[in-house]
Amino acid sequence: MFGVRLRFLGLPLLTLTFGCQVFAQAQVGSAPSITFDQNAKVFRIDAADISYAFGVNERGELQPLYWGGRLGASDVLPPAHSSHEVAAFDLSSSVSPQEFAGWGAGLYVEPALKITFPDGNRDLVLHYVSHHIDGSSLTVTLKDISRDVFVELRYEVDPASGIIGRSAVIQNKTKDPLTVESASAATWTLPHGTDYSLYYLTGRWGSETSLQHEAVRPGQRVLESRRGSTGHQNNPWFAVEQGPTGDEDTGDVWFGALAWSGSWRITVEQDQLQQVRVTGGFNPFDFGYRLAPGESLKTPIFYGGYSHHGVGGASRLLHRFEITEILPERPNPKPRPVLYNSWEATEFKVDEPGQAALAEKAASIGIERFVMDDGWFGQRADDHAGLGDWYVNPQKFPHGLKPLIDKVHSLGMDFGLWVEPEMVNPNSDLYRAHPDWVLNFTGRPRTEGRNQLVLNLARPDVRAYVYGFLDKLLNENDIAFLKWDYNRNWSEPGWPAVSPDEQKQVWVKYTENLYSILAELREKHPKVEIEDCSGGGGRIDLGLIHHTDEVWTSDNTDPFDRLSIQDGFSYAYTPGVMMAWVTDSPHWLNHRTTSLEYRFLSSMQGSLGLGANLNHWQPEDFAEAKSMIEAYKQIRETVQHGALYRLVSPRDGSEQSVTESVAEDGHQAVVFTFLHSSTMGFHYPRVFLRGLEKNANYKMTPIAGKATKETPETASGAYWMSHGFDPDLVGDFQAAAFRLERTSN
Ligand code: DGJ
Repeated sequence: MFGVRLRFLGLPLLTLTFGCQVFAQAQVGSAPSITFDQNAKVFRIDAADISYAFGVNERGELQPLYWGGRLGASDVLPPAHSSHEVAAFDLSSSVSPQEFAGWGAGLYVEPALKITFPDGNRDLVLHYVSHHIDGSSLTVTLKDISRDVFVELRYEVDPASGIIGRSAVIQNKTKDPLTVESASAATWTLPHGTDYSLYYLTGRWGSETSLQHEAVRPGQRVLESRRGSTGHQNNPWFAVEQGPTGDEDTGDVWFGALAWSGSWRITVEQDQLQQVRVTGGFNPFDFGYRLAPGESLKTPIFYGGYSHHGVGGASRLLHRFEITEILPERPNPKPRPVLYNSWEATEFKVDEPGQAALAEKAASIGIERFVMDDGWFGQRADDHAGLGDWYVNPQKFPHGLKPLIDKVHSLGMDFGLWVEPEMVNPNSDLYRAHPDWVLNFTGRPRTEGRNQLVLNLARPDVRAYVYGFLDKLLNENDIAFLKWDYNRNWSEPGWPAVSPDEQKQVWVKYTENLYSILAELREKHPKVEIEDCSGGGGRIDLGLIHHTDEVWTSDNTDPFDRLSIQDGFSYAYTPGVMMAWVTDSPHWLNHRTTSLEYRFLSSMQGSLGLGANLNHWQPEDFAEAKSMIEAYKQIRETVQHGALYRLVSPRDGSEQSVTESVAEDGHQAVVFTFLHSSTMGFHYPRVFLRGLEKNANYKMTPIAGKATKETPETASGAYWMSHGFDPDLVGDFQAAAFRLERTSN
């Protein structure tokens, strides 16, 4: 998933350019070092600001030794020694931490791998066999003490961020099939300690990425999805902080993100000896992957990183890593175009004249991409029919899509289209022809969600159908962008076409096929960009954003609710992929009334889009929107790809929220300030900026709203950071934004 190794090795120039903001104190520019001390049997990885080490203990197990700030080059790490049995109840095999523990011997903590052999044996003890170092990657091979089950542990380190991608390949070299009952990508082990706290993201439809923060306590905190996809309910990201710092940008933080879009699990565990470890991979619930002799199973990649600059520093590292190593256009994705999407304006009532009229209005305010949402295909009048039938609806578009696409192009925009490839309505020609194509158990009900069923993408014929219709659609139409939707989770996840002992492979093969379709489509149609959507943000993870350029953050487009959703989102994902539309007021969900300016500023914190019904707009709305879109284009590179500082949190009933983004090269900073509600005549709290150069001067220009009249136009970075400034905000649902340009170094 990383870029080619050459880029790592030849990186000095690249890393130096973005070292300015994100890696200010990192030892950037140097190639990572991966070494193995043959005598002490210690592996050590040094990159950017981190060191990571593990060793082979006297039993042959891989034992973690260190993960944290970068150590001195000549520092010698003590070799690995298994811990003594603490009591008969705490066997040495369980209290000695392991990099990747098989469930065997006496292991009472979370295993990384559990296997059942056909003879009933379920004991798996993995010992070091060999290793291979290749530039920025390390592969360590483990093997069971008696059976020919091999596990290749892969470590790939990003020299710029020190983020390590870990995964495992489980190989059955025995003569019989075996069943993998659980398989994790990695276990991350933290230094011994009791003062850890955990950040994680929860949610539901319309209320995604809500940040939770709680003490790590004895036992397990399980973050997971059993839904066949990533899910709105938990997101596969975590951060663990040591000590209560009370500040976003200070303190030691270990964080990780799992690149998997199927059912997943991350277990944060503090054992009885107060050892904290985090294990993540496939969700073991209903798992049971049959591995025939000679076959192997590759786990997803579990990325892990460390920052000495708090959870703020952690997210800045992760954002930069996503931009340079994960996104399809890495390392330099283009800024996202400002798009218009028809969904909230028309819902399913799309047709050629209606869409053309919206397109004209969108173009007049500087929109760059026009996206037609649901409703254009099959017999799709509402959500009861049509999914699966990917022909253009002849009543709505009697001449196909071409006239509309030509119209959009003539207006200077490119054209995007909504699809939901993995689903089918029972009321569709596809389902009538292939009722066996959906996930189901023979003779059991098929539970519908939004009147639809899930196609079993693990089936080769379904995979071929989905790839085929998308390829045809893109061949026949000049489409620049697909919004790829996915509007329910799995139920009855059966796969009757294969033998019972192979059916549970669906948990893996479905998602593998999803990724391979996306990869193949991108290769064949390199100009087509893709938005990842699942009823809002129900399937966002590093696995999918490796194949998609942006994500639909939430169906909740209320600009005030969005401040919290976007805040949570930003802990795990770069604002560059975070689509945010300006929609109508009062908002359909909360019936809240907000000004167009407030709605724009909320959406301008991410990748700006419009979803309002432009047919209801007045001339002054168009004029205001035009000038806000113009202003956004001047700052979008900074907002989408800069270093994000969350200065005041919108969480927990906060009356204010403030974010600041600093351009990668430091020439510009952008500040968004929001006021929920003034009370008792109190002033808006002073805003202290971060990430500027103390001795450089910056000129501040309001984008919308203003600062108090005492605020200087130009001042040093030291002034903006230490003295700060006061936004002039009073009332309810008020907002202001400012652009700072560096005028001298
Ligand atoms: C759910 C998406 O999140 C919405 O934006 C919209 O595309 C609808 N589906 C269309 O059915």
